[in-house]
Amino acid sequence: MAEKISTIIFTDNDRLKELLCSFIKDLSDYEIFDAWSSEADIVASLKNMDKVLVFVDMAKDRHKFIEKITSEYSKLKIVAIKENPDVNFIVSAIRAGAKEILAYPFIKSELSDMLERVKEQFSIDIQKHDKCKMITVFSNKGGIGKTSIAANLALELAQITKENVALIDLNFQFGDITAFMDIQPSFDISYMFDNLNILNRDFLLSTMEKYKDTSLYVLADSPYFKPSKQISSKQVTKFFEVLKESFSYIIVDTDTTLDAKTITTLDYSDMIFLVTIVNLPALRNCQRCLGLFEKLGYDENKAQIIINRYMENDEITLSDVETLLKKKIYWKIPNNYFALMASINKGVLVSEDNPSSNVAASYKELAINVADTVFRNKFVKKFTPESERKIENILEI
Ligand SMILES: Nc1ncnc2c1ncn2[C@@H]1O[C@H](COP(=O)(O)OP(=O)(O)OP(=O)(O)O)[C@@H](O)[C@H]1O
Ligand SMILES: [Mg+2]
Repeated sequence: MAEKISTIIFTDNDRLKELLCSFIKDLSDYEIFDAWSSEADIVASLKNMDKVLVFVDMAKDRHKFIEKITSEYSKLKIVAIKENPDVNFIVSAIRAGAKEILAYPFIKSELSDMLERVKEQFSIDIQKHDKCKMITVFSNKGGIGKTSIAANLALELAQITKENVALIDLNFQFGDITAFMDIQPSFDISYMFDNLNILNRDFLLSTMEKYKDTSLYVLADSPYFKPSKQISSKQVTKFFEVLKESFSYIIVDTDTTLDAKTITTLDYSDMIFLVTIVNLPALRNCQRCLGLFEKLGYDENKAQIIINRYMENDEITLSDVETLLKKKIYWKIPNNYFALMASINKGVLVSEDNPSSNVAASYKELAINVADTVFRNKFVKKFTPESERKIENILEI
C-alpha cells in the first residue's frame, strides 16, 4: 500500500501512549499522526484526513464518542482498548462502531496481528470503491433528455451486467424518475438523507425500490410535492460513499441547478455525461459547463459530451459541434419523439417498451460501452457479426 495509514491515539494513560508509539513508529504501513487526550482535538484533526486508525482507550466510557466519529467519518477505523474486556463490553463497543478490540495490557504479536487485519480491511475498502463506477448525467438546460438517458442507461446496465445498479434522482422537488418508471418507492431519497448514520449496504438494498425483476435499485423522491430542503456537501459525500460500497454502478439524474449538492455529486463522480442538443443556445450552455469543470479542476476525460435528439440532416454538423466545444463527442442518441412519448405515457422505459427502436438501441450500446470490459466482451460475443460491426462503428464516434 503506497499511502500510510495514520494513527491517532486517544488516551490519558502515558504508558499506553508510549507503548503504542514505540511499536507503530517502526511499521512501514502505519505512521503516528498524534496522541490526544481530548475529543475536540481528535474531531478537529480528522477533518482533513483520509485513512485513519484511532485507538480509543475505554478506561473511560467513550462509546458515544466512537458512535459520533464513525457516523461522521467513514474512512476511519476504531480500535477500542480495554483492560479485561468482557462479552458485554465487546458487543457494546462493536455496536458503537469499533472495528477491533484490544485487551490491555497487550502483547506485541496481538497488536501486530490486529494491525495487519486493519490494513487488509483498508485495502478491501479501496477495491470496493474502485469497483464502482459512478456516472452523473447533467446539463444546465432543462428538458434536454437527462432523465431519459439516466433511467434507460441504468436499466440497460442492470440487464447487461446483472450487477447491482443504483439510479438516483437528485432532483428532490420535481424529480421525474418515479413518473418515468411508474413507481412509488416506500422510502424516498429525503428519508435516506435524514438517516445517514444508519445507512449501509443491507439497509440500502432492503429499502431502495427494486425495479421489477432486475438488479436495478431506484432512489427518488416521492411523487408528491414536498418543500425542498438544504443538503450539505458533507451529507452528499457520506451518502455516495455508502452507495459506492454497495453498488457496481451508480447513475445519477440531476436538475439544472448548480448548488452545493450537485457540485459535490459531480466532484464525486467518475464520469459526467454532459447532455446537449444541437442548437446554439444549448451548445453555448454546454461550453459554459465545460469551462466550469475546468475551473473545478476536473480531468478533461471526466466530462463527456452526449448529443441527444441527433438528426442526420441537422444544419449544424457534429464536426461543427466538436470545433465549437473543442472536444470530441462521446455519444449521440437519435431523435425519436414518438417512441419516447409512447413509453413515457405508459410509465415504462423505452428500453422495455420498444427495445428495437433506434433510441433504445442507442441506450443499450451506450450501456455496453460504459460497462466494464469483461461484460462488454461477453455481451458483444452474443451479437451477430453484423450487429457487432454496428457497435464497433458506434464505439468509434
Ligand atoms: N432522444 C430523444 N428523442 C426525442 N425526444 C426525446 C429524446 N430524449 C428525450 N426526449 C424528450 O424530451 C423531453 C424531456 O426529456 P427528459 O425529461 O428526459 O429531459 P430532462 O433533461 O430530464 O428534463 P428536466 O430538465 O425537466 O429534468 C421528454 O418529453 C422526452 O420524451
Ligand atoms: Mg429530468
